[in-house]
Amino acid sequence: MELFSDRFPRESWYALTRAAALRRGRSVAVDALGLRLLVAREDTGRVRVLERICPHMGAELPVGRLRSGRIVCPFHGWSFALDGSCAAIPYAERIPATARIRSFPAEEHYGWVWMYTGDSPTHKLPDLSEYGAPGCVARHSSIRLRAHMNQVLENAADPPHMSTVHRAPVLGSRVDEIREIDVQDALEISVDYDMAFPWKRRSTRVRVTSRLVGASVIVGTLEHDGALGMRFVAAPLPISARETLLHQTIVRPRRLPRALGWLEAPLVSAFAQMVWHQTRADRRVWAGQDLERPRVLLPCEAPVARIQRHIARHL
Ligand code: FES
Ligand SMILES: [Fe+2]
Repeated sequence: MELFSDRFPRESWYALTRAAALRRGRSVAVDALGLRLLVAREDTGRVRVLERICPHMGAELPVGRLRSGRIVCPFHGWSFALDGSCAAIPYAERIPATARIRSFPAEEHYGWVWMYTGDSPTHKLPDLSEYGAPGCVARHSSIRLRAHMNQVLENAADPPHMSTVHRAPVLGSRVDEIREIDVQDALEISVDYDMAFPWKRRSTRVRVTSRLVGASVIVGTLEHDGALGMRFVAAPLPISARETLLHQTIVRPRRLPRALGWLEAPLVSAFAQMVWHQTRADRRVWAGQDLERPRVLLPCEAPVARIQRHIARHL
């Protein structure tokens, strides 16, 4: 199926690495999206993403400490600024215009360094006002999957697997709303679940809203009976057509009274553990899924097809 090929969505954002781990004047290597990438932080703090290949004769560029803010190729010593331009050639005065490392738009959001696969972004990642706000607790995690990134994305519009794979106590579910959000080139899907938790007398309405931004990131919200439970970001990074590194952030706003504030961090850690556990349950199914053969989707599974159409527009 074309949707699960080694072509990945263009004009989209991808989380590459944890922002906190990238120090000023340093770079790290990331191999993803069929590219050998270098993620670097300038002395000013700005992040940059470039290909890790010298435009001169294709040598691999070094990773680690920058040399006076520059990348110096180990083969013939050409040096490059972090915008990709060639700053100096030790044995020539004239620098050819084509002597540029390919670079990509780069930004920091929700604790990750992101790259955009296009020349200039057509849309932004949404702000998560809770992230970094006082009292909010965030957790980050990464998990390696034997899966195509689109298996992760279409999971957001698949309510029937909640009771089987995730063993959620679902009494009923319905896809409540699907809408397009032009400013973020996004498709937003809201699903309402009626859940019976054993410790509650009445059933709980859980609403999960997943916004597929571009065709590579889900920024979502989980509400219990109308109250915000957490926000989450799921950013699958394709290593290959059958291998994905899933980066996730969850953010829980302060909910407890001040006297119980010390419980916020352990609670969000427990929540993060639960998300981790549930992702591993998905992972077992994804690893064995045959992606080559045509599918039989029911009318009630139209949201899955809708997500697929949205992704296909970006391939
Ligand atoms: S290949 Fe990089 S300087 Fe020659
Ligand atoms: Fe799932």
